Amino acid sequence: MTPVRVAILASGGGSNLQALLDALDPSAPAAVTRVISSRPDAGALDRARRAGVAAVALRDPANPAELLAALGDADLVVLAGYVKLVPREVVARFPGRMINIHPALLPAFGGPGMYGRRVHEAVLASGAAVSGATVHYVDEQYDRGPIIAQQPVPVQPGDTPDTLAARVLAVEHELLPRVVIELARAFQERDDADR
Ligand code: GRF
Repeated sequence: MTPVRVAILASGGGSNLQALLDALDPSAPAAVTRVISSRPDAGALDRARRAGVAAVALRDPANPAELLAALGDADLVVLAGYVKLVPREVVARFPGRMINIHPALLPAFGGPGMYGRRVHEAVLASGAAVSGATVHYVDEQYDRGPIIAQQPVPVQPGDTPDTLAARVLAVEHELLPRVVIELARAFQERDDADR
C-alpha cells in the first residue's frame, strides 16, 4: 500500500522531524515526503536534505497560495516547531489531516507567543506538578484545535526551563511518531473501505 505522504512544517532545529524520519522505516504506513520552513536557516531543512527529503523555505508564510503550492500532494500535514499561524485557507484544505505538537498539556500554556522556552517558564511559574506534550488538530487559532493525544511528564524539584524542556522533548519524540502512524493506518483503512 502506498504510504501516506507527510509534509512537515518546521521553524527550528527539527528534532521532532528527526524522530519521525527515524521512526518511519520503509514498512511504515507513512513517509515524510517534504519539509517546509518559515526560516531559510532552520536546522530542520538541513536534516531533511541529509535524509534526501525535499526541503523548502517559504518567502512569505502568510501567503496561502505559496504554502499550498509547497504542500503539493501531501495527505497529512504535521507542524513540528512551526511558529507561524497557518492561513485559514490552507487549514480548510486539510480537514482532519493537519496536526501540531505542543510542549505542554493543552489547553493550558498554549496560544499566541507560547512556544519554546516561554512555555516551560510559564509551567514552572505556575507551580504545576505535571507538564507534558500534546498532539492536536490545527484550526485557525494557535494551539486550540481538538486534542488527539497527550503524554504527561512530572515537573521535578529544581527543574529549570531547560531541564523541563528536555524531559518534555523526549516524550514528544515518542508521541508524535505514534500519532502519525495511527492516523496513517486509519487513512489507509478508510481509503481501503472506499475502494
Ligand atoms: C518542540 O518542543 C515542539 O513541541 C514545539 O517546538 C519545539 C520544536 O522542537 N512546538 P524541534 O524543532 O522539533 O526540535
